[in-house]
Amino acid sequence: MSNNRVQIFDTTLRDGEQVPGCKLNTQQKLVIAERLDLLGVDVIEAGFPISSPGDFTSVEEISKLVKNATVCGLTRANKKDIEVAADALKYAKRPRIHTGIGTSESHIKFKFASTQEKIIERAYDAVAFSKSFVEDVEFYAEDAGRTDNEYLARVLEAVIKAGATVVNIPDTTGYCLPDEYGAKIKYLKENVKGIDNVIISCHCHNDLGLATANAIAGVQNGARQIECTINGIGERAGNTALEEVVMILKQHPYLNLDTGINTKLLYDTSLLVQRSMGMIVQPNKAVVGENAFAHSSGIHQDGVIKNRETYEIMDPADVGVTESSIVLTARSGRAALAYRAKNVGYDLTKIELDDVYPQFLKFADKHKEVNDEDIHHLMELNHVAKSNTAI
Ligand code: KIV
Ligand code: ZN
Repeated sequence: MSNNRVQIFDTTLRDGEQVPGCKLNTQQKLVIAERLDLLGVDVIEAGFPISSPGDFTSVEEISKLVKNATVCGLTRANKKDIEVAADALKYAKRPRIHTGIGTSESHIKFKFASTQEKIIERAYDAVAFSKSFVEDVEFYAEDAGRTDNEYLARVLEAVIKAGATVVNIPDTTGYCLPDEYGAKIKYLKENVKGIDNVIISCHCHNDLGLATANAIAGVQNGARQIECTINGIGERAGNTALEEVVMILKQHPYLNLDTGINTKLLYDTSLLVQRSMGMIVQPNKAVVGENAFAHSSGIHQDGVIKNRETYEIMDPADVGVTESSIVLTARSGRAALAYRAKNVGYDLTKIELDDVYPQFLKFADKHKEVNDEDIHHLMELNHVAKSNTAI
């Protein structure tokens, strides 16, 4: 695989689904897994098999269904978790076990009441044991974002010796700044023996709104896998949003990094996840929000009508949105009114537009938005005839 290819590891069905209110049944998970495979993700993290019989069944059924992507199951660093995950993944064409342990001072002290050396031993043993079931083993150093870099490098050296194929550097608490996270990846790339033989993965949380920026900083510094979710759902404030990182890499070709994602399916996939989970994204959500390609101020509308690129840095069609929308409000100008009127069949002359526009503004001041029906009403009041040139 080219060194410029960034693998997309989708964890909508694991980190995303573990959020309250986002619970799915196996059938719903199968529909999403099939869509993710079609979208072109490289890895689907299908669940945490030991967590419940339902999750085990989902991972097993997804393993049977998925044709192209690697199917992955999460475990903690213990034998029982790993055995159960291996069992759930037994039908997968490309199975991966994702095992790991907390490596920060607070995790070692408070979660495990352990020592740095004992954690390295457990990490090594978990990877070595996973390797007895599958070839592809990813190791996560939980809370790597707050783990001392020198110690983290020692942990990674051990798991690479044990056979890890991917090393995941989670900013579990979403604390890192992008330059700090990027520098961490660079440090590991330069200081861990054997690191060039494995893929470094970014798994960033959004507690300070930096999950996407941190993942991008990671790949700019040598990581080649991004863990993300559709719509950025996930624990607390969520994870890196898949649609955001994919479009950032696509819209910045000079970074020379690409993914295998069919971007035209992004919007529909986002809607599928929103509807299945009942978790509706905010209208201003980047890439897939209702307003992501909607223009409402008169100045912007005039620019977009003249040339879309004046106010849009990506083509809505590239993410599966049919077209940009010109929203009519009291902030809209004449160009927007003429454009929307033409859409519904009125080719306004300059004189007609001058007559209708003040009434349009009065109406718009009273209502939040002026819709197609309102336009017909305004035109009838002004005796404007239809030209039948609706576009
Ligand atoms: O945020 C995190 O650290 C995780 C790991 C289990 C990969 O989700
Ligand atoms: Zn996570």
